[in-house]
Amino acid sequence: SDPGLVERAAAAKAALGDRVFVLGHHYQRDEVIQFADVTGDSFKLAREAAARPDAEFIVFCGVHFMAESADILTTDAQRVVLPDLAAGCSMADMAVLEQVEQCWDLLSDLGIADDVVPVTYMNSSADIKGFVGRNGGVVCTSSNAKRALDWAYAQGEKVPGADAKQSATKVLFLPDQHLGRNTAVLEMGYSLDDCVLYDPHKPNGGLTDQQLRDAKMILWRGHCSVHGRFTLENVQAVRQQVPGVNILVHPECRHEVVTAADYVGSTEYIIKKLDAAEPGSAWAVGTELNLVRRLAAAHPDKQVMFLEKTVCYCSTMNRIDLPHLVWALEELVAGRVPNQITVDPDTAHHARVALDQMLALP
Ligand code: 13P
Ligand code: SF4
Repeated sequence: SDPGLVERAAAAKAALGDRVFVLGHHYQRDEVIQFADVTGDSFKLAREAAARPDAEFIVFCGVHFMAESADILTTDAQRVVLPDLAAGCSMADMAVLEQVEQCWDLLSDLGIADDVVPVTYMNSSADIKGFVGRNGGVVCTSSNAKRALDWAYAQGEKVPGADAKQSATKVLFLPDQHLGRNTAVLEMGYSLDDCVLYDPHKPNGGLTDQQLRDAKMILWRGHCSVHGRFTLENVQAVRQQVPGVNILVHPECRHEVVTAADYVGSTEYIIKKLDAAEPGSAWAVGTELNLVRRLAAAHPDKQVMFLEKTVCYCSTMNRIDLPHLVWALEELVAGRVPNQITVDPDTAHHARVALDQMLALP
């Protein structure tokens, strides 16, 4: 990266000292990650934001929904800054509050809303988290989705002594169909037939009333445009080309990809798995490319490759680049607060209930 910009970022950060805390998601560019005080997946970063009450400014190098969560979890006096407001998330944009309320009205009309616990992936707007908090649900991330679902299914009436599968409870899982399906089927023992896909753009979600009544898991039709690109063919091709390769993917990948892989987990899990891997072992990794490149560089004694042939960055994560970070830090030095992310108090209150419920999961 431009040495002038590196110097300016370092100088601005030094001038701010403990007043600023910079959080960096693992999918950020190297040029940005070098200035992060802490790096992490979305779960770790939410905890880190909550654990820094003394920092006046939290500069969030990640995407909009993460900065919103940081605003909700920090004190009123703290300001959260997103260096580029265009750093959104296409998956989060796939669930809009109005659509979710419509879905809920439909479930109420069918008389089943009382049995449904809404669970939203962290990758959703504060509005959606607020909806979930208002309706007795929980937020989850890719590191705790199973624990969140265990909690959700335990909320309803249970057949005494029976397991969660026999509870009357259903889950409405927002907005990532893949994380919801992969967790329900691969970690909780539900079948694909227990899951239905609710399409907000179709009448009745594209489902019959009976399908909605019978489902244990109502999946919102959302997905990640980055992880959704990995295919079963990618897995088969790399197995053929690299005998003995270990395939390690994120649970936002499609069900057939996750089923064919050897290991599945959040970005933090992927990092730990490679740290613990044997020298000489081969790994094809299905997640965002900035992270895979850093992992390959960090493990020269292992063969770390990308699961797909073509370039696969998250374009919105990549919007946070060094020029934007320098600009944000220099604005703070000048006494201005650029691109502050704020969530209105009522939404924040209910979203916090759902986030706190997540942070309290066993
Ligand atoms: P995690 O940070 O929970 O692994 O999620 C990955 C992701 O897509 C973040 O946007
Ligand atoms: Fe959203 Fe996917 Fe990018 Fe994560 S990687 S910010 S889920 S589009």
